[in-house]
Amino acid sequence: MHSLISDDKDILGRVMDGEESVSDILDPELLDQMERSEEYRSILRRHGEDILSSQNYQRLKSFIQHGNVTVYEHCIHVALCAIRLNEKLSIRGKRRELVRGALLHDYFLYDWHNADAPGNIHPKLHGFYHPGIALKNATRDFALSEREKDIIGKHMWPLTVKVPMCREAWVVCMADKYASTLETLRIRKGKIRVDYA
Ligand SMILES: [Fe+2]
Ligand SMILES: [Fe+2]
Repeated sequence: MHSLISDDKDILGRVMDGEESVSDILDPELLDQMERSEEYRSILRRHGEDILSSQNYQRLKSFIQHGNVTVYEHCIHVALCAIRLNEKLSIRGKRRELVRGALLHDYFLYDWHNADAPGNIHPKLHGFYHPGIALKNATRDFALSEREKDIIGKHMWPLTVKVPMCREAWVVCMADKYASTLETLRIRKGKIRVDYA
């Protein structure tokens, strides 16, 4: 399990939410709370029902992102965290595009741990290439706005050099790192029990 140094916690805490204590902000229970929230669930359904219920999207449940967290769970977490950050930081990003881009940000559709998996064309450089692969798949399966394309294609910044060009992409970029940290901290905890489709 990773542990954050106190400097990291301070910075993350200040960026994510100035009103709460750092221990609250980095509490992995936050993911559970957001999963249980009827309000958050209805936001995801309202803006992403066609994505969540599609056959290809359901395949994300069979791919592991890290530990015991599937890509499906991870994408739900990122969407939930993006909604929260957008509100808490008063960023006023467009919620529909924020949700749809977050849901599709890791839509690369292969097991990245398996170098021989179909679609895993750059197994050693997954971190660099998967935003482009996710974008290609998402463009094929859904009608995307320019903001949604920016969110998916730029979410690994600064690893990938192209800088996010809209506030929604910045929010998802932060939400991805935030959710990944919380997922790592609670890596031995249970699975999502909420049905979002
Ligand atoms: Fe990613
Ligand atoms: Fe991600």
